[in-house]
Amino acid sequence: MTLIKGRLINVSNRLPVLIRNSASGARVERSSGGLATALNAAWRHQPGVWIGWAGPGQGPDVEHLLAKASRRRFHTLQAVALSEEEIAKFYSGFANEIIWPLFHDMPSLCKFDPDYWEAYQRVNRKFAQAAANTATDDDFIWVHDYHLMSVARYLREAGSRARMGFFLHIPFPAPDIFEKLPWRQCILKSLLQFDLIGFQTDRDRNNFVSCLQRLLPEATVEQNHPHLLASMQGRQAVVGTFPISIDFEEFAIPAAHPDVAARAENIRKQLLDNVLVLGVDRMDYTKGIPERLKSFRLLLRRFPELRRQITLVQVVVPSREEIPNYKELRLEVELLVSQINGEFTESGWVPIHYMHRNLGRAELLAYYRAADIALITPLKDGMNLVAKEFCAAQADERGVLIVSEFAGAGPELRHGAILVNPNDFAGVAQAIHDACLMTTEEKRTRMRLLRTIVKDHNVHRWARSFLQAAGPLETELTKSGNGGASKILTIRKQPSGEIPGVALVAASMGARQGQYSAGHSIRRIGSAHGDD
Ligand code: ADP
Ligand code: F6P
Repeated sequence: MTLIKGRLINVSNRLPVLIRNSASGARVERSSGGLATALNAAWRHQPGVWIGWAGPGQGPDVEHLLAKASRRRFHTLQAVALSEEEIAKFYSGFANEIIWPLFHDMPSLCKFDPDYWEAYQRVNRKFAQAAANTATDDDFIWVHDYHLMSVARYLREAGSRARMGFFLHIPFPAPDIFEKLPWRQCILKSLLQFDLIGFQTDRDRNNFVSCLQRLLPEATVEQNHPHLLASMQGRQAVVGTFPISIDFEEFAIPAAHPDVAARAENIRKQLLDNVLVLGVDRMDYTKGIPERLKSFRLLLRRFPELRRQITLVQVVVPSREEIPNYKELRLEVELLVSQINGEFTESGWVPIHYMHRNLGRAELLAYYRAADIALITPLKDGMNLVAKEFCAAQADERGVLIVSEFAGAGPELRHGAILVNPNDFAGVAQAIHDACLMTTEEKRTRMRLLRTIVKDHNVHRWARSFLQAAGPLETELTKSGNGGASKILTIRKQPSGEIPGVALVAASMGARQGQYSAGHSIRRIGSAHGDD
């Protein structure tokens, strides 16, 4: 086995910072999305190099601003510039109009344009070239996500012998879906050029293996406890499951601050101390926002006693706005919000508060703390870090997490959360109703359990277990940092590839004849969970 003595070279489409041109010149912003949140935390104190796209900002300022942003980090940020055509055909096109919908089980939304494929390969070669210019054969190159599935292939073609890992942040589809991709074999073969391929869940890993078996019969797959080993034409790749997470303390500590508590209290007061149901998402059709709104509408229709007592706060951060499906989604969401508000608003009560913007961290934490219920119902999601952030921020342990069974976070958090099928509007409405009636004690038991899971299976553990599976690295991601002086640390022996899960079982939902808001008792009508 090769011993890696070198640096970590991180390669992702997005850098943790984004440079935008504005009237007053280029400016730096924090990138949004789960990948940026997780990797930023995992890499905060890590020496090495992070290669990625710094966004649409152009010109001499970009280098300067990145150098400035790197000064506050232990690693260097290195930009790969993308032309407008590459942004349109590689990023918006192949990545987000083919792979994104296909891998989220929505093949009817795919636009299989051969020009997109050509641009994808060209840009993957560009990223590979940037990594090759920086990395030596001693370094470990860690490539992230669906934008860059062919990078190892181009690095190998350029003669690189470095060890390379790939982590897919989104789901991997079953063979019946994946095989629709015209370039399916090329993608699989390219992935097998990595030494380690990581997935969010066992389901994704198993789908990948089934695709290999169906589409590349010359590949073999064997058990290599706790992972799998895929071999083809003399190359071997470890294939494993590594559910990503957050830095628990990064959310828990500031959320517990009195200023955030005061801000949360203020939000609650402004919402008349109603039951606050919170949705926080990127504006994406995979997040199930229209379905969630329809479930909420059904709740208000079926349980009229909840009207005036409950408020949905839906926060969406703008995303991929140049892509037609995303434009249409925004219109659909905004139409539904106005229809539902039109149907139910009464003097002094608006059922849905809708925000279409990025919230600052303190404001986001205040909403997490203020919420009684987090309603996280993607139709399909690699992990969904919002679910974990909500738990970490629950300093009072009084919130209830309702989460889709189709998010990676669903199975992982199933013992403390209420799991729902987002397509089952009646089931989601019922779950909200159940959450309204849950006893304080049960909420606390569930939330404690959730917080223990998220705290334990944090992003640092995720990164360590991935690196450990990559072989006997001498490099470890550090949480505290080492002043950037040395890059060689010894990895601790940790069980790798574990799927967070718990032996503890939360208290079952008790009888719920109760109060959901001061002075208003409601009658239990049924359960979505058959636990009556
Ligand atoms: P995805 O990777 O698909 O965007 P995740 O739930 O894993 O989904 O991650 C979303 C990230 O974006 C989280 O870290 C969350 O805090 C952040 N986020 C989502 N919506 C907003 C918003 N309106 N304002 C600020 N941050 C947001
Ligand atoms: O987590 C999935 C993901 O696609 C990340 O790769 C990405 O950072 C995030 O969602 C946001 O998407 P985008 O980079 O297209 O803004």
